[in-house]
Amino acid sequence: MDRTTPTFDPKDFRRALGMFATGVTIVTTRTEDGAPVGVTANSFNSVSLTPPLVLWSLAKNARSLQAFSTAAHWNVHILAEDQVAMSNLFARAGEDKFGGLQLDTGLTTAPLLHACSARFQCRTMFQYEGGDHVIFVGEVIGYDRSERPPLLYVTGDYALASRKSEPVSTEPSADTGSALFSEDLLGYLLGRSHYQFVNGIRATLNERGLSEADFFVLSLLSVQEPLSAAEIAGHVAYTSIDIGPVLLQALCDRGLLRRTDEPADGYALSVAGRDAILHVLAAAKAEEADVVDQLGEMEAAMLRNLLKRLIRVTDPGLPKLWTGRAERPAPKP
Ligand SMILES: Cc1cc2nc3c(=O)[nH]c(=O)nc-3n(C[C@H](O)[C@H](O)[C@H](O)COP(=O)(O)O)c2cc1C
Repeated sequence: MDRTTPTFDPKDFRRALGMFATGVTIVTTRTEDGAPVGVTANSFNSVSLTPPLVLWSLAKNARSLQAFSTAAHWNVHILAEDQVAMSNLFARAGEDKFGGLQLDTGLTTAPLLHACSARFQCRTMFQYEGGDHVIFVGEVIGYDRSERPPLLYVTGDYALASRKSEPVSTEPSADTGSALFSEDLLGYLLGRSHYQFVNGIRATLNERGLSEADFFVLSLLSVQEPLSAAEIAGHVAYTSIDIGPVLLQALCDRGLLRRTDEPADGYALSVAGRDAILHVLAAAKAEEADVVDQLGEMEAAMLRNLLKRLIRVTDPGLPKLWTGRAERPAPKP
């Protein structure tokens, strides 16, 4: 057998290994002096169910190697999708990684981090030489799990998980040949999902005699007010619905909006307008909760992430809505 060590281009080898999607963990322990130690690691894996064993590997040049080599216990934290900052913190050397972090009480003295997708409390069973890493195998002596969607790591980037979708149509797929229009067309998927989703609150809008344009204006002003007619038109430009002075005046005449002096010719919600939009938004939230329930938290997080990215790459330069509140000086009393 040829036992010469193959020489690979390290970057290319890393890229190939990065095609394997993993979760992201932080493994923690304490030094012999009791100081907390932790590292971000995606080399974690399950080994055995009976007995319950897990493994991970640590680079021999890691500052924490000494602590883990002598530790009797360590905890593995499967990070949730909103814990990227924590992953980055524990991937840095030479920082006080635990300053200000909330710790839970565990079975051992190893630090137990908060708000993760899952946690495994382990007793060191074996350590193996693994080239430039040391492989740690631990027996799981306790674990817990939450519904928080897990964070993934693949091709050198953080990612989110989504189950592979079934085709949209329930009919056997017809041979569409070279048809331009297919169920994979993004425009079709976005349009259909938008209308199906909005249909859920259509009844509430109808009850209140509100059109889609009215809904856009009222919901916009519930996020940011007062706004001038031009600012309102700018914010809802993505809808292509013409929101002009006639529509705004009609909402004033119905007692849903009021005029303001600051800015001059500004619009704000009246008490009745706020009541109406809160009612519709409550219906929208209930509809969303129902959809999230069916999709699952993990895919809802993934969908939000993808839609935000799509909005960013297709943004024609609309004014900022969610950060805009702080930009306007407070109205004079
Ligand atoms: C997503 C991700 C996964 C990582 N996985 C590992 C790993 O499995 N093993 C390892 O030794 N280092 C891994 N690292 C790098 C360590 O977290 C990093 O070297 C850290 O500074 C080590 O901390 P220490 O020097 O305080 O021991 C990973 C980093 C990131 C961002």
